[in-house]
Amino acid sequence: MARFPVEPFKIKVVEPIRRTTAEERKEILEAAGYNLFAVRSEDVYIDLLTDSGTAAMSDDQWAGIMIGDESYAGSRNFLNLGEAVKAITGFRHFVPTHQGRGAESVLFACTVEPGHRVPSNMHFDTTQANIIVRGGEPVDLLADEGLDPISDVPFKGNIDPRKLEAFIAETGPDRIPLGMLTVTNNSGGGQPVSMDNIRTTGEILHRHGIPFFLDACRYAENAYFIKLRDPGYANQSVLDIAREMFSYADGCTMSAKKDALVNIGGFLALNDEGLFQRVCKELILREGFYTYGGLAGRDLEAVARGLWEGLDENYLAYRIAHTRYLAERLSEERVPILTPPGGHAVYLDARRFLPHVVQSELPGQALACALYLEGGIRSVEIGSVMFARRDPETGGMVYPELELVRLAIPRRVYTQAHLDHVVDTCKHLYDHREVIGGLRYTYAPDLLRHFTARFEPL
Ligand code: F0G
Repeated sequence: MARFPVEPFKIKVVEPIRRTTAEERKEILEAAGYNLFAVRSEDVYIDLLTDSGTAAMSDDQWAGIMIGDESYAGSRNFLNLGEAVKAITGFRHFVPTHQGRGAESVLFACTVEPGHRVPSNMHFDTTQANIIVRGGEPVDLLADEGLDPISDVPFKGNIDPRKLEAFIAETGPDRIPLGMLTVTNNSGGGQPVSMDNIRTTGEILHRHGIPFFLDACRYAENAYFIKLRDPGYANQSVLDIAREMFSYADGCTMSAKKDALVNIGGFLALNDEGLFQRVCKELILREGFYTYGGLAGRDLEAVARGLWEGLDENYLAYRIAHTRYLAERLSEERVPILTPPGGHAVYLDARRFLPHVVQSELPGQALACALYLEGGIRSVEIGSVMFARRDPETGGMVYPELELVRLAIPRRVYTQAHLDHVVDTCKHLYDHREVIGGLRYTYAPDLLRHFTARFEPL
C-alpha cells in the first residue's frame, strides 16, 4: 500500500473550497464549452489544472513581501534575487521577467529569425508558440523511450543525441540560433533529463558553435531525480547537482511559478555579454526596466527566497513522494497512468483509459471533462487539443504520440485526503469507462488552441 509522506511544514493559513453537486457541474461544464480553462475556480473542488503559480508560499516568503522595495530602479529585492540566481545558476547576467513566457519572448525576439529551427527534447507549448511567432520552427528530438508510456527507464526526458547530430547536419548550424532542453520535460510527462544527457547536449551544440539554454522551470525537481536515480550523484547536494546542470549551458529561461514556489515571476539568465545587451533593450520594451522586469519589488523578494526553499532537500523529498503517492495509489487501482511518475504531476494515459475513443474524438479532453463531472476535479489535457496540427503539405491532421490528462500537483497545497478523493474519482470513472464518449470542436483557434477552444459531446 502506498504511503503518504509526512509534511515537512504545518499549516498556518487555510482557504475554503466548496463541493458542487453533479447537476451544478453539468451546467457549469456546458456553459464553459467543455473547456476547463473557462470554469471559475470557485466551481472547482480539487484544482489540478497546473502546478504553476499555485504553490502555498512560506511564512518567510510572506515576510519578504513586507520588505518589498518598490523603487523603479535598483531595488534591494532585485539585488537579493540576483544573488540567488547567480549562486544557483552561475550565469553572469540575469533579468527578471513577469513569468516564464516573458523570458522566452525576450530571448527569442533577440535570437530567432524566419527560417531558423530550434531543437529541444520537447518544447513546452508557450515555448513552441514564442518560436513560431518569430518565424522559427520548434523541433522536438526526445529519445524514443520517452514516448513509451509504461517503460521504467529512469530518465525519460532525455533528448536523443543521435537525432540531435542528424538534425544539425540536415539543418546546418547557421539556421540554429540555439538549442534547448526542458528540465523536467513537462509535455512528455514531467520526466527528468539525466546529467549525462545535459552534458552531451551541451557538447554537441557547442561543437557546432550553437548556444545551449535550459528551460529550467522544474530544475530542482530534475536535480532531485538525478540524486535519486543516478548512483554517481547519490551523495551530492541538490544544490551542487543543479549547479552542475547549469554549468553545461549558456543560459536559461525560468518560470519561478514552479520550482521557486511563487505565484508570479520568472527570469532569463545568460552568459553572453552582447546578447545580454540586446535582451535588456527588448526587456524594457516588453516587460519593464531591467531591475524589475514586470514584477513588483515584493514579488522579486518572494522569488529570491523561494528559489532557496525549492532546493531544500526535506521539501523535495516530500514533494516527489507526494506525487509518487498519487501515482502508486492509482496504479494499485489499475488506472492507466504514465510510469514512472514525473515530479510535478501524474499523467493519466487517455488512450489506454478510453480505448474506444479515437484520437480525432479527443479522448484526453473527454477524460478531463469526466473527471470534473464526477469529482469536481480540474485537470488539463496534454494531447490532441494541445498539440495536434494540420500538416501544411498534405492538409491532414497530425496527432501526437501521447494522449495524456495531467493531474498537476500544486506545491504544499493538498493533503492525503484530497489525493484520495482524486484516486476514488479516477477509479470510479475507469470502472465505468465505456459510458465516456468523445468530443468535437465548436471553436478552435490556430495558436495555443487549448486555452480558448470550445467543444460539444458527440
Ligand atoms: N516552460 C515549461 C516547461 C512550462 O511548464 C511552462 C509553464 C513555461 C515554460 C511557461 O512558463 O507559465 O510562467 O509563462 N507551464 C505551466 C503549466 C503553464 O501548467 O505547465 P509561464
